[in-house]
Amino acid sequence: MESKVILKESTEEDYPLIKGWFEDPENNILFTSELRNLKEYNKIFFLMALKKKGNKYYTILIKENGKLQPVGFIALIDIDFGDKFGQIWYVMGNKNYRRRGLMSKALSFLLSKCKVELGLHSVHTWVVEDNIASIRVLEKNGFSKIGIQRESYYYNNKFKNRVLFDKVLRE
Ligand SMILES: CC(C)(COP(=O)(O)OP(=O)(O)OC[C@H]1O[C@@H](n2cnc3c(N)ncnc32)[C@H](O)[C@@H]1OP(=O)(O)O)[C@@H](O)C(=O)NCCC(=O)NCCS
Repeated sequence: MESKVILKESTEEDYPLIKGWFEDPENNILFTSELRNLKEYNKIFFLMALKKKGNKYYTILIKENGKLQPVGFIALIDIDFGDKFGQIWYVMGNKNYRRRGLMSKALSFLLSKCKVELGLHSVHTWVVEDNIASIRVLEKNGFSKIGIQRESYYYNNKFKNRVLFDKVLRE
């Protein structure tokens, strides 16, 4: 079924859902180390992050059979309005909705917001080397692999590489 994807700026009311997605170890082992292995994602951190000028957080909603429901989260963080770039990251929290092209669509909408609403010129991100699904999402959105940051991810007593990606928004 074709679903309509909508990005809504995240608000305090989204916290309980986002908390669950962030605390799921299958998700958060793929995040930055401070969010990895979270036992409890604290509301105060969420509210502080929402307030930061250099961050934009969106809840991904889908519309199916006339009903809207939140399924994931996508963010643009560390925005540098001087050099016009920022870092993207995302999680498709509701696992029943994975592999349906929805995050690829959500990222495409975010990229257009970055360019049109925020006036950014480029975006970047990193992915753990074996996160095939996330690498596919980036490739489908025209990101370029710009390098390997060797053994810069440490989990379960094992180092892995990060793969670095960027996209210039005119591309
Ligand atoms: C990465 C993630 C956001 C993808 O969300 P999604 O809505 O399933 O993404 P899409 O359906 O748009 O695209 C996923 C692509 O990866 C492919 N894929 C998914 N799992 C795969 C696997 N194990 N092996 C090969 N390909 C895989 C899908 O087939 C699809 O590619 P296709 O359209 O060419 O067939 C989701 O898996 C997730 O939230 N993971 C945990 C958090 C995470 O990794 N966040 C990113 C941190 S950088």
